[in-house]
Amino acid sequence: MEQSGDIDLKAGLALAQLAEGAIISGRVDGEEAVLVRRGKDYFAVGAACTHYHGPLAKGLIVGNTIRCPLHHACFSLRTGEALHAPALDPIACWRVEVALDKVFVREKLSAPQRAESVALPAKSPASIVIAGGGAAALAAADMLRRCGYSGPVTMVSADDVPPYDRPNLSKDFLAGTAPEEWMPLRSAQYYVDRKIELVLNQRVTAIDAARSVVSLGDGRQLAYGTLLLATGADPVRLQIPLSGAARIFYLRTFADSRAILAATESARAAVVVGASFIGLEVAASLRARGIDVHVVGLEHVPLERVMGRDIGAFLRNLHESRGVTFHLGQSVSHVDGKQVTLTGGATLQADFVVLGVGVRPAITLAEQGGLAIDRGILVNEYLETSAPGVFAAGDIARWPDPHCGDRIRVEHWVVAQRQGQAAARNMLGLREPFAAVPFFWSQHYDVVINYVGHAEKYDTATIDGTLESRDCAVTYRRGERTVAVATISRDLQSLQAERAMETTVNPI
Ligand SMILES: Cc1cc2nc3c(=O)[nH]c(=O)nc-3n(C[C@H](O)[C@H](O)[C@H](O)COP(=O)(O)OP(=O)(O)OC[C@H]3O[C@@H](n4cnc5c(N)ncnc54)[C@H](O)[C@@H]3O)c2cc1C
Ligand code: FES
Repeated sequence: MEQSGDIDLKAGLALAQLAEGAIISGRVDGEEAVLVRRGKDYFAVGAACTHYHGPLAKGLIVGNTIRCPLHHACFSLRTGEALHAPALDPIACWRVEVALDKVFVREKLSAPQRAESVALPAKSPASIVIAGGGAAALAAADMLRRCGYSGPVTMVSADDVPPYDRPNLSKDFLAGTAPEEWMPLRSAQYYVDRKIELVLNQRVTAIDAARSVVSLGDGRQLAYGTLLLATGADPVRLQIPLSGAARIFYLRTFADSRAILAATESARAAVVVGASFIGLEVAASLRARGIDVHVVGLEHVPLERVMGRDIGAFLRNLHESRGVTFHLGQSVSHVDGKQVTLTGGATLQADFVVLGVGVRPAITLAEQGGLAIDRGILVNEYLETSAPGVFAAGDIARWPDPHCGDRIRVEHWVVAQRQGQAAARNMLGLREPFAAVPFFWSQHYDVVINYVGHAEKYDTATIDGTLESRDCAVTYRRGERTVAVATISRDLQSLQAERAMETTVNPI
């Protein structure tokens, strides 16, 4: 429950005004803050999430944490620490004092005053190598240093730039509303300050788990104490016959998004192949640039398999209302210069084509290294692979999810980051099972869909509210059990659904 107002929290608030679990918005020395009561304890922390400034006053209190309504980052009320991604940086914290029947927010606490040290086991790895430079890799390196690990950390990335905000590649960056400067997850100085060695433009080409050595593309060998594999996924390549000067793009990297962006400058029309999340987000961003967009997809209703027929039909209508033309139940048979021929026989004119037909986990390295594989790299609850001392996180990892009771692999930004964080702690010997409930979001114009849980299969999808009003929650059930919840404009409900699923355990 949120209570708002321009309250000066330093001036003191009557205890009676602070209900258990309520979030009071106010100001401390001109800075926006929230005040929360948990039993006999009172906490004052910064009001804006450090991910994308989500309003924490509209979030959820769980134990001594506060969760962001936008993408579910979780902060400690006691220390302000960003406990769970996607936020990586702490929020401010103030000292709070109770005098007589009032609660007063006092001075801001400095970082050392509020730091909680992590009790690491005596023996830590001699060095840590991370294969990958994306969501899971950065979150892992960050957590290693936060936990106080002082040994060498080397991140080897096939990317040509340091870790960046990949979800934005199809959204605001492509639409032109997020400048390049917003894209890096960390500044160049961050890696220097934390002694994280970044090896860019370089692939890990082989793992020798018996000798604890990896080989790099340039022939070098790197010994590791512990290894994290975080190589993500590669776009599925469609074998479409091409002739003339056809311009075809995939979208996974910063370089891919920049190339599409460059193509938009002189383009009037584009074909997007694939009507799932990335394809539709690309369509929305290209429409924002005034480009005519045709979406071609094999499915008859976009996203029907994941989100169900109702949300799929709603999204189709939404995109059509913004000028997107759909060609569903078919694919592309041939591209000749600017002419795109569909399998149904129609031809479209397009300055370029974007292929967004799914991804495959980048597991060749692990396969060749002899690790156990099952449509992903198999890991245990600590995210450790079948090779002791080798961990895996993110799009490549298939882990035992204690909530849905299956071994699952997902392609979600927040899950990859949280697995990176959990793997880092386990590489240091903390032995904490990974138990986060999967979460992702997707943005289409001004409509954002939040999704918690995992529903590879479900029996029913029940809508509370209406899609037309853009205010609803869809609950997916298998038998009696809620396996996932998708929401539009109901962020608090999404957080509550996540919390409810966290407390549900189904043995594998
Ligand atoms: C355009 C786009 C939009 C998206 N939008 C959303 C969204 O809105 N919400 C959401 O939840 N998810 C979204 N996703 C998915 C999300 O980005 C991924 O789930 C997430 O990035 C996975 O993180 P990861 O660390 O596993 O892999 P990645 O972030 O892909 O990182 C993999 C890294 O490994 C490197 N690499 C690969 N092979 C090697 C090798 N052999 N040696 C060294 N380095 C290697 C790559 O260069 C890269 O740096 C989106 C993805 C894309 C492409
Ligand atoms: S803005 Fe808070 S998690 Fe994204």
